[in-house]
Amino acid sequence: MRTRINNFTMAYENEGSGMPLLLIHGYPLNRQLWADQIRALKDIAHLIVPDLRGHGESESTPAPYTIDILADDCHELLNILGIEQPIIVGGLSMGGYIAMAFYRRYPERVNGMVLAATRASADTSEGRANRDKAIQLARKEGPAAIAESMLPKMFAPKTYITRPELVNEIRKMMIGTSTEGIIGALTAMKERPDSFDILSQFNKPALIIHGDEDQIMSIEDAQAIQKAIRGSKLEIIPSAGHLPNLEQPQAFNAALRRFLQNLR
Ligand code: MLT
Repeated sequence: MRTRINNFTMAYENEGSGMPLLLIHGYPLNRQLWADQIRALKDIAHLIVPDLRGHGESESTPAPYTIDILADDCHELLNILGIEQPIIVGGLSMGGYIAMAFYRRYPERVNGMVLAATRASADTSEGRANRDKAIQLARKEGPAAIAESMLPKMFAPKTYITRPELVNEIRKMMIGTSTEGIIGALTAMKERPDSFDILSQFNKPALIIHGDEDQIMSIEDAQAIQKAIRGSKLEIIPSAGHLPNLEQPQAFNAALRRFLQNLR
């Protein structure tokens, strides 16, 4: 489906019935990331799954973006869909940064949080310098070069051997991201603030999910989030890297289903 949001056309999925669950994809991916979760959970949740601006089938706007702008786009989508009741906001990696910003900006709209393969800290100075290098690479060589630089770290080592078709699918998603979307997201991530302050104020149910072989975010990142959110639950998914929802969909979906059922 498509709708006009602010100054661009956003593509999104709007499926299922039950409590509203907004799922936000990571960088430089798109809403197809969540296809398994839509299939598996549409009987208990109303899933709202956007392509962020510059990603997937959503139009690009000129970079730079901010994480707050990306959170505002998601908020506007809910308004357009007429979703007034509080939602569960979920995101993977950069999607997690956006979910945390969504809560900072719209606390009254959030009834629960799902944070997968993400971290709450801001970029280190080394991380910021790497963002600048990636921006230069994207400008000079485009999305294919970004995809090749990221793919070796996206999965658990075994996934490359057992699921080559999945690696290819992710390559296609990355290559399909616009250069403007890539640069916009990189600048947004580079400038994002630390979110531990708002996580310590969060007093609703939260689920943190992390692959035990994530090469991009450490288990310590996930444990720090779990410590910050009072009463939150951390599920470690075995044999999964940075994309646990795709590498181990059954375990991921079961964890999410348990969380949603406990909310009812
Ligand atoms: C992502 O997977 O969304 C990004 O790799 C996160 C990041 O680079 O910080």
